[in-house]
Amino acid sequence: MKKVYKAHILYTKERNRFEVLENGYIAVDSDGCVKGVAADLASLVADASKRRTSPASDASERRELDPDDTEIIDLGDRLLIPAMNDLHVHAPQYRNQGIAMDLELLPWLQNYTFPEEMKYADTEYAERMYRRFVRDLWRFGTMRSCVFATIHTESTRILMRLFREAGMGALVGKVGMNRNCPEGLSESVKQMVQGYESLIAEFKEQDGLVRPIITPRFIPSCTPEMLHACGELAARYQLPVQSHLSENKDEIAQVQRLEPESTCYGDAYDRYGLFGQTPTVMAHCVFTEGEELELIKRHGVMVAHCPTSNLNVTTGIAPIRQFLDEGLRVGFGSDISGGHDLSIFQIMVYAIQMSKLHYQRNHARAFLTLSEAFWMATKSAGSFFGQVGSFEPGYEFDALVIDDRDLNHDNYSLLERLERFIYIGDDRQIEKRFCRGKEIGAPKL
Ligand code: GUN
Ligand code: FE
Repeated sequence: MKKVYKAHILYTKERNRFEVLENGYIAVDSDGCVKGVAADLASLVADASKRRTSPASDASERRELDPDDTEIIDLGDRLLIPAMNDLHVHAPQYRNQGIAMDLELLPWLQNYTFPEEMKYADTEYAERMYRRFVRDLWRFGTMRSCVFATIHTESTRILMRLFREAGMGALVGKVGMNRNCPEGLSESVKQMVQGYESLIAEFKEQDGLVRPIITPRFIPSCTPEMLHACGELAARYQLPVQSHLSENKDEIAQVQRLEPESTCYGDAYDRYGLFGQTPTVMAHCVFTEGEELELIKRHGVMVAHCPTSNLNVTTGIAPIRQFLDEGLRVGFGSDISGGHDLSIFQIMVYAIQMSKLHYQRNHARAFLTLSEAFWMATKSAGSFFGQVGSFEPGYEFDALVIDDRDLNHDNYSLLERLERFIYIGDDRQIEKRFCRGKEIGAPKL
């Protein structure tokens, strides 16, 4: 059964402007993908039939019009936008959200983050916390995420099952760590590999919404043997990779000491096959420039910009405008709990404000605009998960229905309504959420 939704449709095909369809229509096929999007029903049908590829699809074209096979859902005066994507978030740090914000990165990790993550050896604790985490991602309209778990295989499995049960997309990483950390948060290379293989065996469908992602925590946490094993796993099972890059000056100096042969932090990952050999996302890149920037560009590495985290653990302002100008792929991460806010809408606002601070210091490059931030959160970040983040035909239908009546929208344009929702709205205005075409109800606590 095909579904056609009628609503005010807003999305960003290109980063410099919104597509806005007042009382527009979007057709979603039974495979969960967008079939067509148009200003009125007649053009939607014409658009879909224009896209016919095989001569055998005459019958199916007639079926496009078949009222028995198409349900039209009128969403009235609501906004319909692509769902959010979070490219960097630590699920086991959820309980630490909003605390321990008076320290810089490395002491923050040792004193608050590692002790909390050690608790995830206990699968009951893990399940209780992870349920809240998945529920809240859902609340804020994040339908796809790149998630760090902990070293613990069974807790990581619980998190992956919770995402699968919810119907939400997630790349979940069991974290590789074996140096510069407490005993209880360290694992042998052999255990790490075995743990991954058991998760891979359970979550192996290539087009599955929930899949493992190879996750060396960062160079300071991993011996060369651990990094090497991570690179091998990524290559052998063709799995994506996530980690942290150039977040803090003390961290960068430590990486230079630990990997003296490397020419930059990014090169240290590259030497182990962890920098774009398979799809790779690196969080932060606050101090990325020169050779590292070229390497990211050449290898198509995705940058997860985490503005709230960069503010809280006082790392710095990442040169996002420069990254966009140079054609790098960039999306957003909430980086809970370095970041304090799970809402990607709020992350957009922080990113724009932070970019304005950067601009005030240096007028050489313009600050980020709303359409750019929206595009980063949807189409750009979504590309890490496949054809995700836009409403163009062929894209998976990941969407949010926004009812902004409470925000006094009288006399505002549709774009102003969206802007107001992003700046001053919250989960109360998100009425429905869709992932790959399916409406996603609240995950059980
Ligand atoms: N670098 C290594 N681990 C972490 C972490 O948990 N959070 C942040 N922000 N940076 C890291
Ligand atoms: Fe992080």
